[in-house]
Amino acid sequence: MTRGLVIGNWKMNLDHVEAVHLTQQLVSVLANRPADRVDVAVAPPFVDLRSVTSVVEAERSVVGVAAQHVSDHDHGAFTGEVSVAMLKRLGVTSVLVGHSERRTMFHMDSDVVARTVRAVLAGGLHVILCVGENLDVRGAQSQDEYVRDQLASALRDQHGSEGHITVAYEPIWAIGTGQTATTDQIGEMMATIRGEMGRWGAGTGRVLYGGSVSAENASELATDGGVDGFLVGGASLKAESFAAIVTALNDCYAEVR
Ligand code: PGA
Repeated sequence: MTRGLVIGNWKMNLDHVEAVHLTQQLVSVLANRPADRVDVAVAPPFVDLRSVTSVVEAERSVVGVAAQHVSDHDHGAFTGEVSVAMLKRLGVTSVLVGHSERRTMFHMDSDVVARTVRAVLAGGLHVILCVGENLDVRGAQSQDEYVRDQLASALRDQHGSEGHITVAYEPIWAIGTGQTATTDQIGEMMATIRGEMGRWGAGTGRVLYGGSVSAENASELATDGGVDGFLVGGASLKAESFAAIVTALNDCYAEVR
């Protein structure tokens, strides 16, 4: 890929006032660092989206704004849900779909993931499809098959997805634990995922790694893991650590690719 991508997943952290502060800090820190080879986006909670897009627009920043989740329905009696059209109207350009926390804690099964991917694509937004195995699956060495199944069920029957899908490989055992996958494990999974994406007409999409990415390990993961970028949780809540990850990926693109 010619450009890398780093997305900050804020999860259920930061109210809209805190979100404005962090966005302003991030925009100013990034303005003073080389990030010309990397696209950057943040995924705040729904209630922060309006504030964050306002800051980004006012500062004429290139930071993109993503949502963490969306309904697979267009509109109607779905209390508590938010539609793709609503996000689009706010200036959101991409949506995380099927994060493992949604799958495990909110019963988002593979059918709902597939329908949500379809709704996001139909609405003209970009999909960040999250996949990854838990420790039991890894222990049984079934991770390749497991992730291929996740991709197949989400990507088959999608039309016009080429260029509109990014996949984030996030092994569940690495999320928020401080223990990343090894660069060998990541490299193997990148090959598996790219093969499967090609099979379903999404072969030009970028493939990210997520799970305990930090300012300290980003450089090694980027250089040796063969990733196109990162999905970052905890380390995206501080402008300095998030920007350091962006810089590490940018340096990797400048030197190696
Ligand atoms: P983490 O989270 O960076 O805090 O491990 C990653 C994610 O869940 O997207």
